[in-house]
Amino acid sequence: MPTTVGEFRAGDAPLTMLTAYDAPTADACEAAGVDAILVGDSMGNAALGYDSTLPVTVDEVASRTGAVARATEETLVIADMPFLSFGVDEAESIKNAGRMVKEAGAHAVKLESGSHTVELTERLADLGIPVMAHLGLTPQKVNQLGYARQGTSREAAEEIAALADAHEEAGAFALVLEHVPANLATQVTDELSVPTIGIGAGPDCDGQVLVANDVLGLGEGLPPFAASFGDVRGEMEKAVSGYVDAVESKEFPADEHSHVESELDDLY
Ligand code: KIV
Repeated sequence: MPTTVGEFRAGDAPLTMLTAYDAPTADACEAAGVDAILVGDSMGNAALGYDSTLPVTVDEVASRTGAVARATEETLVIADMPFLSFGVDEAESIKNAGRMVKEAGAHAVKLESGSHTVELTERLADLGIPVMAHLGLTPQKVNQLGYARQGTSREAAEEIAALADAHEEAGAFALVLEHVPANLATQVTDELSVPTIGIGAGPDCDGQVLVANDVLGLGEGLPPFAASFGDVRGEMEKAVSGYVDAVESKEFPADEHSHVESELDDLY
């Protein structure tokens, strides 16, 4: 299992990456053999109750990254840099990315990328903070792009391809491609020597990533490119209903869940 970005390379099988925002999910990811955990700013929708990723803070990602890093030993942990925590001021960007590594224990950070992140990627990589780039649908641009497919015209696809090259040259160790045509992702994957990780980018990327809530069946509804492999929401509801029923019917707590001290019988 990779614990350095240099080991994060597709072998015979594609790389697997999944988001996690807490220790139990991270522990399950590691036990299941996931190669990398992304502490995504998708936590905004998936775990923190926001309508988008925009309100997510550096403190929130650092706290969740710490939980994931403490729960794992053999899995690459990548912290997602939240909206406006990078790309505004270089020193501030470095300080925020540095917190994810120094304070929270991440191995790397991910930046939703564009022409504004090429120099920053180089600077962070030079400083020893590995960067995963992210092109295509970048949810932090929801107010400009919505959640629509990206790279669908020749011009837009060429722009993504050029930015992919520029980020590899700047030192990015991997590239997420989100919601782009599969034939664009195939060509970018063939062109780059660093791994591409697809989400809604077809089968030819070097690896795949999804949001844990989708994979687990924990959320409501799925994006068109995601799939569920369980029904954790259903299981949670079943367990909580069982608890409510047991308390209301006084089956819980039973004798084995209580203890009695005989000398305490006459307090009143
Ligand atoms: O925040 C996130 O979960 C992501 C993935 C969807 C790539 O950026």
